[in-house]
Amino acid sequence: MNISSQLDEYILQHSEQEPLLLQELYREAHVRLLRPRMVSGHLQGRILSMLSKMIQPKRILEIGTFAGYSALCLAEGLPADGKIITIEIDDEMEDFARSFIDKSPYKEQIELVIGDSLHLIPTMDEKFDLVFIDADKRDYCAYYDVVFDKVLSGGYIFADNTLWDGKVVEPLVPNDKQTAGVLAFNRYIAADTRVEKVVLPLRDGLTLIRKK
Ligand SMILES: C[S@@+](CC[C@H](N)C(=O)[O-])C[C@H]1O[C@@H](n2cnc3c(N)ncnc32)[C@H](O)[C@@H]1O
Repeated sequence: MNISSQLDEYILQHSEQEPLLLQELYREAHVRLLRPRMVSGHLQGRILSMLSKMIQPKRILEIGTFAGYSALCLAEGLPADGKIITIEIDDEMEDFARSFIDKSPYKEQIELVIGDSLHLIPTMDEKFDLVFIDADKRDYCAYYDVVFDKVLSGGYIFADNTLWDGKVVEPLVPNDKQTAGVLAFNRYIAADTRVEKVVLPLRDGLTLIRKK
């Protein structure tokens, strides 16, 4: 075992345990789903839960549900009358995600919507305290633009995978549109004076953005 995987294990051993339902979801995702690596997992999940509990958001929007893991973590910080809307474009994920949402204590507070966030968000008549962007890397700037006016002042936008496996500091491979999308997003946020931001070197990079 190298030092970095030893440290990863140490971090998990000294952090909050992963709830049993999420352990089950993680296992099932690895048995039944293509690309289970997209599931947030233990460490990022506990961080999302902790941040959500710190913010105590009444309304959360998630762009990119996949198996429902991060939606369940973010829901842990909702007050009793709070709600999270999570949007997934792939209707084949619906049964899997819904089965775990339905088994959770947050089933009444999580609204899973199937469709394209870029079409759905402009039709929403809601304001959000917290938005989690975790969908197609090519569209990160577009998600940010479409959601920005729906985030309350003092509200937060989190964006996942902003270090994209370290590719953000490597020479850009022609036609790698996902890395180009992440690079464009990172530049855009760095230059946006309407917000404060910090890139956390967590897992694949998690950018925390606060609307002034
Ligand atoms: C990285 S996964 C999400 C993982 C999940 N948030 C978690 O942490 O457990 C990205 C998901 O975004 C979905 N997606 C891609 N484009 C989308 C769009 N325009 N609107 C909604 N979902 C989208 C994909 O189908 C995929 O399931």
